[in-house]
Amino acid sequence: MNGEYRLAYDGGEDAFVAFEHVQKSYDGETLVVKDLNLTMPKGEFLTMLGPSGSGKTTCLMMLAGFETATHGEIKLGGVSINNIPPHKRGIGMVFQNYALFPHMTIAENLAFPLEVRKLGKAEREQKVRRALDMVQMGEFGSRRPAQLSGGQQQRVALARALVFEPELVLMDEPLGALDKQLREHMQFEITNLAHDLGITTVYVTHDQTEALTMSDRVAVFNDGRIQQLAPPDELYEAPGNSFVAQFIGENNTLAGRIKSMRGEDVTVELDTGEIVAAKAVNVTGAGERTLVSIRPERVEIDTEKLGPDAQTIRAEVLEFIYMGDIFRTRLRVAGRDDFIIKTRNSPDQRRLKKGEVISIGWLPRDCRALDA
Ligand SMILES: Nc1ncnc2c1ncn2[C@@H]1O[C@H](COP(=O)(O)OP(=O)(O)O)[C@@H](O)[C@H]1O
Ligand SMILES: [Mg+2]
Repeated sequence: MNGEYRLAYDGGEDAFVAFEHVQKSYDGETLVVKDLNLTMPKGEFLTMLGPSGSGKTTCLMMLAGFETATHGEIKLGGVSINNIPPHKRGIGMVFQNYALFPHMTIAENLAFPLEVRKLGKAEREQKVRRALDMVQMGEFGSRRPAQLSGGQQQRVALARALVFEPELVLMDEPLGALDKQLREHMQFEITNLAHDLGITTVYVTHDQTEALTMSDRVAVFNDGRIQQLAPPDELYEAPGNSFVAQFIGENNTLAGRIKSMRGEDVTVELDTGEIVAAKAVNVTGAGERTLVSIRPERVEIDTEKLGPDAQTIRAEVLEFIYMGDIFRTRLRVAGRDDFIIKTRNSPDQRRLKKGEVISIGWLPRDCRALDA
């Protein structure tokens, strides 16, 4: 969904959520969020993805109103919310540790945000029932949180965040405590619910697979800054810098220096002497150091397949790993012994042997010259 909108969307006046030059310091010295600029259209599912300590939770807390920005402005529906207290922002929140009230029943937990908002009893009961049905927990209204499994508690937490029909929902690593199977199931439920109800969602995770599978767009955080903000396919296929290339998915990097540059086409002299052709991404000219980056699945061992433009290079097989659907082979390439290729387990696929010396290849456009 949102495909056309996403392309046409340039932030602009109609942004539903906007961070404008937002900075945050807890101690008055170090900035943990540095000049954050971000706009979201209504209905978007946006994920903040990044390593621990990169500032994701801080951004969510500022949006929710539990922390104040040291500098800059946060807007909701075009209006600055810097001075609006959390409970008046109309935002639903879900955290990793559910935070259900243990002494209340499930139904009472859900009714709580409605009581705070002074809704009458009949309306409360009707909304609670609807929210529980939405997450398939209709039968469990009279139980207490301790009488539910982790997954059921997380569903209730989700229902509680949605029960007062917020326009914006914030989720901070909400599935971190669940096992893999349940987590994948909940990922699916959350995105479906959000899209069906037209809710705008800011989701925080450090799990790249979760970010890629759930989101309309992903903001990759590192060191208090957004490194790249893009739809999942673009992040994976066209990482804008070395951090993103290495943080998202598996990636091979070879270090060298730009030898020549013509438009987008560069030749790179690797530190081990080989010359490779690549596509310039964020390098500016000859002489500059660079890391060239290539995805394992873009490397071919049958280099004929690639046609005359192929870049080929010598490789020594260090390890062959049978993984069922694919073969994962570790090679020594240009002095690095962590070069990974992935080949599909098709009937005619070669199974490489340790010690074998082969020629591998790729297309120059799949080899990206990034910052070193
Ligand atoms: N309440 C706080 N007081 C002081 N420092 C904090 C506080 N919360 C977070 N930090 C610091 O701010 C940085 C960003 O933290 P956080 O936003 O929690 O990152 P993330 O959610 O990406 O792991 C970290 O260095 C963290 O130690
Ligand atoms: Mg966090």
